Formats: sequence, structure tokens, C-alpha cells
Amino acid sequence: MIRPHILRRGLATASDLARPYNIKVGKVQGSVNGLVGAIGNTPLIRLSRLSEDTGCEIYGKAEFMNPGGSVKDRAALYVVKDAEEKGLLKPGGTVIEGTAGNTGIGLAHVCRSKGYNLVIYMPNTQSQGKIDLLRLLGATVYPVPAVAYENPQNYNHLAKQHALTTPNSVWTNQFDNPANRLAHIETTGPEIWSQLGGKVDGFVCATGTGGTLAGITRYLKEASDGATECWLADPPGSVLHSYIQSGGKLTERSGGSITEGIGQGRVTDNLTTEINLISNSLSIADEKSIEMVYRLLDEEGLYMGASTALNVVAAKEMAEKLGPGKTVVTVLCDGAYRYAERLFSRKWLEEKKLLEAVPEKLMRYIVLP
Ligand SMILES: Cc1ncc(COP(=O)(O)O)c(C=O)c1O
Repeated sequence: MIRPHILRRGLATASDLARPYNIKVGKVQGSVNGLVGAIGNTPLIRLSRLSEDTGCEIYGKAEFMNPGGSVKDRAALYVVKDAEEKGLLKPGGTVIEGTAGNTGIGLAHVCRSKGYNLVIYMPNTQSQGKIDLLRLLGATVYPVPAVAYENPQNYNHLAKQHALTTPNSVWTNQFDNPANRLAHIETTGPEIWSQLGGKVDGFVCATGTGGTLAGITRYLKEASDGATECWLADPPGSVLHSYIQSGGKLTERSGGSITEGIGQGRVTDNLTTEINLISNSLSIADEKSIEMVYRLLDEEGLYMGASTALNVVAAKEMAEKLGPGKTVVTVLCDGAYRYAERLFSRKWLEEKKLLEAVPEKLMRYIVLP
């Protein structure tokens, strides 16, 4: 409400104050219905320092601002909606998924807000913190031995099995369920396009299930008549960089990565239909991702996880390759909150041989022993 004394003093008229304010707030952040209405419509943040360094406009889609804190809220909502629409999930039903991370958290929020039960299978190598968080969000969690995908006891197969024997339940199958990709075709892609008024020269991000990259790529390619370049960013230990560089002939991998939630051993169903639209890939070493975790904090005030840092390194490299004047977008997947004990611990950085990756002047951020 506008206070009368402001108007009386002639500082502003009611319409002066109301007009710009209403346009900004009304359009972007109107009221929404429940938690699920608050998923998506995230800001697009211009990364000023990296934009200046490259002569490009580099933007990050602020997915950490979703209610569950990550890009996976969108996929969680869409796989649940898909199951409802197909009649697989009725009121009071149970959602079952195999996940060690953000998808479980997204699903837990969505399931609570819609009144469904949630069962999560995860490898027992995951931290107690993750298990506790899912349980306090209302999920039933089964930590099971960490065995390869080929083994029937793998957590994904156990999740599927559980659904087969539970009435009114669905295995949401995030890796191969196209509803995951659809979330980004219908929401993230259009949001980016409209936030930039259709000027998107390049898009790049890493993949876990591939839903984010595939869905945004599909939308941007169609909206731009093929003009937007869409690239994949890969951590060490993932096969997709070799797959793209070899034109689909190789699936080689080497090393491993400290990044969580990204890196793949196969082309998932979510990626299959779009992989031919991806024209290039970048392999990003952990040293660069760690340096960017600290740079984002210091230069942009952004407290981001390692997969986000990897995405931003990739966006910078893409901008350098495309040349000045281009607009490049990536995804800010989640905050550093869930990883702080590692990313900001001197001991952990030493163990991973990544301490030297932190620039000398940014060492002051290593506040944990
Ligand atoms: C932190 C983080 N970044 C990126 C991703 C990748 O997203 P997508 O599964 O859509 O490929 C995930 C997926 O779980 C994630 O948890």
C-alpha cells in the first residue's frame, strides 16, 4: 500500500508508483497455487564478471531457486503429473524411485503437497545426511548395497520391483521416462527463450538423466529454427563426451569426478531423441569446476554446487569459442548447501588433490578443516 504522506509530499503519484512495480511483480511473480505452482519461473541471472571477461552475455538459469532447491523439482512434478494423467496414480497412492539425490528431494516435496507416499531406493554408499533429509521430508528410504546396473539388486531395479508388487503405485523411472524431458520442453526452454526475447546463441549443460539438456535443446532448436547452438558438458568418468565427439561410435570413459548428479555411462531414453541436435561437447576437469565454485562465490555472490560450477565453466568456454557479442545460457542446478562439508573443507580438497585448484586469493573461503 502507498503511504499517503509520500503522495502528499509530491514525491510520486499513485500511478507512478504502481505502474512499473505492478508490471514487474505481476508478470514474473504472481501468486501461485500450492508448492507445485512455485516450481519453475526461475530468474535468469546474468553472470557479470564472466560476461565482461568474454565479451559475451553469459546467463545462468537460477534453478536453485525452486522450492526443493534444484532443477530436479521440474522433473519430479512432471513424472508425477504424467502418472496421474495415465491413471497409474490415484489419491493416496505411492511414488517409487531409485535416486541418490535431488530427484528424491523434489519428489518428496511434490508427493507431500499432493498427498502421495514416497519410497526411495538408493545405494548405501550415500551420506547419512541425504538419507535423513529424505526421511524428514516424509519418504521411506531403503539404502541398498551399491551394485552395478547389470545386477538385478541394483537400486533402480529394486525400485521397479517394489512398484510391481504395490497396488496404486508407480515407478517414476527418471532416467528413461520422457515426462522428465517434457518438463524442460514445456517450461525451462520457453522461459529462457522469453526471458531473452529470443536471443539465445548458445546453450550448454551437463547431464545426469539428460532431461534438462534434451528438453531445453528441443525447445530452443525449434524456437530458433535450428540457429541456437546446443552443446553437452561432461565431467571425467562419463561416456557422453566421447559419444558426441565420435559421432555416436564410441562410449569411452576415463577417470572419475567429484561432481554429483551428473555424468553418465549410457545414452538414456531421455537423451536418445535429442542427442543428434547436440553439435558439440566439452569435457571439464574437476580442477576447473572447483576453481569456478570459488569464483562464483567471490565474483558473483553465488554459492553453487559443483555441477553448476562445471556448467558455468562450459558456458565460458562456449562463449570463448562462439566469439564476442553472443548470448550463452547454462543452468545453475543447485546450491552448495548440500556439499559444503566437502567443497569448503581443506582436508577433503587435499584428499582429492584439488587444493591447488583454488586460486591463492580465494583460499580464505576454505573455512572448514
Ligand atoms: C546437482 C545436479 N545437477 C545436474 C543434474 C542433471 O540433471 P538431469 O538429470 O536433468 O540431466 C542433476 C540431476 O540429478 C543434479 O542433481
